[in-house]
Amino acid sequence: MAARTAYVPRPGGETAFTVSPSSLKFGPGALAELGADARKLGLGRVALFTDRHVRETGPFDAAHRALADAGIDVALYDRVKVEPTDASFRDAAAFAGEAGVDGFVSVGGGSVMDTAKAANLFATYPADLLAYVNKPIGEGRPVPGPVKPHIACPTTAGTGSENTGVTIFDFVEREVKTGISSPHLKPTLAVVDPATTYSLPAGILASAGFDVLTHAIESYTAKPFTDRDKAPDPAARPPYQGANPWSDIGAAQAIRLGGRYLLRAVADAEDHEARDALMFAATLAGLAFGNAGVHIPHAMSYSVAGLNHSYTAPGYEREAPMVPHGISVVLNAPAAFRFTGETDPERHLQAAGWLGADVSGAGPNDAGTVLASRLAEMMRATGLPNGLAAIGYGEADVPALVKGAAAQQRLLVISPRPVTEPDLAALYRDAMQYW
Ligand SMILES: NC(=O)c1ccc[n+]([C@@H]2O[C@H](COP(=O)([O-])OP(=O)(O)OC[C@H]3O[C@@H](n4cnc5c(N)ncnc54)[C@H](O)[C@@H]3O)[C@@H](O)[C@H]2O)c1
Ligand SMILES: [Fe+2]
Repeated sequence: MAARTAYVPRPGGETAFTVSPSSLKFGPGALAELGADARKLGLGRVALFTDRHVRETGPFDAAHRALADAGIDVALYDRVKVEPTDASFRDAAAFAGEAGVDGFVSVGGGSVMDTAKAANLFATYPADLLAYVNKPIGEGRPVPGPVKPHIACPTTAGTGSENTGVTIFDFVEREVKTGISSPHLKPTLAVVDPATTYSLPAGILASAGFDVLTHAIESYTAKPFTDRDKAPDPAARPPYQGANPWSDIGAAQAIRLGGRYLLRAVADAEDHEARDALMFAATLAGLAFGNAGVHIPHAMSYSVAGLNHSYTAPGYEREAPMVPHGISVVLNAPAAFRFTGETDPERHLQAAGWLGADVSGAGPNDAGTVLASRLAEMMRATGLPNGLAAIGYGEADVPALVKGAAAQQRLLVISPRPVTEPDLAALYRDAMQYW
């Protein structure tokens, strides 16, 4: 198969891509300026979202103090559930509905930022939780319009949720994770202070860091935007457009930074150079995947996380058992990239090289395997589980895993290679063990 690195126009194919700008502040100490940022947005009373562990950290104190010093009233919500559920979203929405605030500030990981997005949405446009949830699990109703201003401040070098219009939760009775996606949910401002990550335990940083790497590699290897049919109406262009020259910039740099710094950042909390760089990679990867989209590893992750509530990852001992998001994704990634390698060997080899693999002598047919092997090496070096079997899955689970992944068509359509249900079954089998 020919390499597809260039964006080659084709008759009837898409020719344009869009970029919605994100407002972003980045740097150590940025949280101390939060009061001024909130004032600039005209906020007088905000709902401050966090979780009970982040609440105990110095950077959270700095954020809280900055708001108070600027004379801003704060309604504190610290009951965010790590890996939120339908029930925890409802609780947060009820709080937001009664808090009488004119904006939201979230200080925490993806769980906190996503919960604030959902609370803001349902407080502004009350509806049943499933109304705006992506089809086929929800009704897929569009978010009616703008929500209140939201300043998102990530504290894990992970999700990139500060730059995306996506919020994810575990729909417990259906045993699958799902979400709501709308440009209106994108935070008004992202304040990214890498000093927040210095208190992250190694295991949490490893999981979040692989979320960053998969966001970036999936964006970089996604189906090119030129492969979609041209949108008849510009408004019908999907939020996940496929790889394009703009998303490539952030994705490529995030992979390079991840290759250089992920192992160092996990190994040593005092290595601030590495943790700062990984936080920047997280932001870049969020910008890239919020624009291009993610594909097979993320689509497969929703049932990996939704079906297993008995695993406890290192670093997550204070939480109820569950598969953390980054782990639920990266365990599928080597299998997925072995499968997609042939669609664009050059990009898969580039990614492998940026992660530190020796690609000299590797040919196009090896591309997927070289990338998969390097990822597996990095997983092993950071103490991640050795595939899905290591977190309790086996052959008997494959049909249920496939069912959950097949429902994620929003993501699977931007896979660079078409994926059938038998393909998904083979991918899950391949993901059971890596070393
Ligand atoms: N909206 C999006 O675009 C998007 C993208 C990817 C993932 N997600 C979602 O984000 C969630 C995962 O978020 P996450 O990986 O950022 O982690 P998290 O928010 O779930 O937090 C993980 C753990 O780290 C702790 N923690 C967070 N920051 C800390 C700090 N600075 N110091 C010490 N402990 C800290 C938390 O208390 C928790 O125990 C999942 O629900 C996932 O589905 C959303
Ligand atoms: Fe992710």
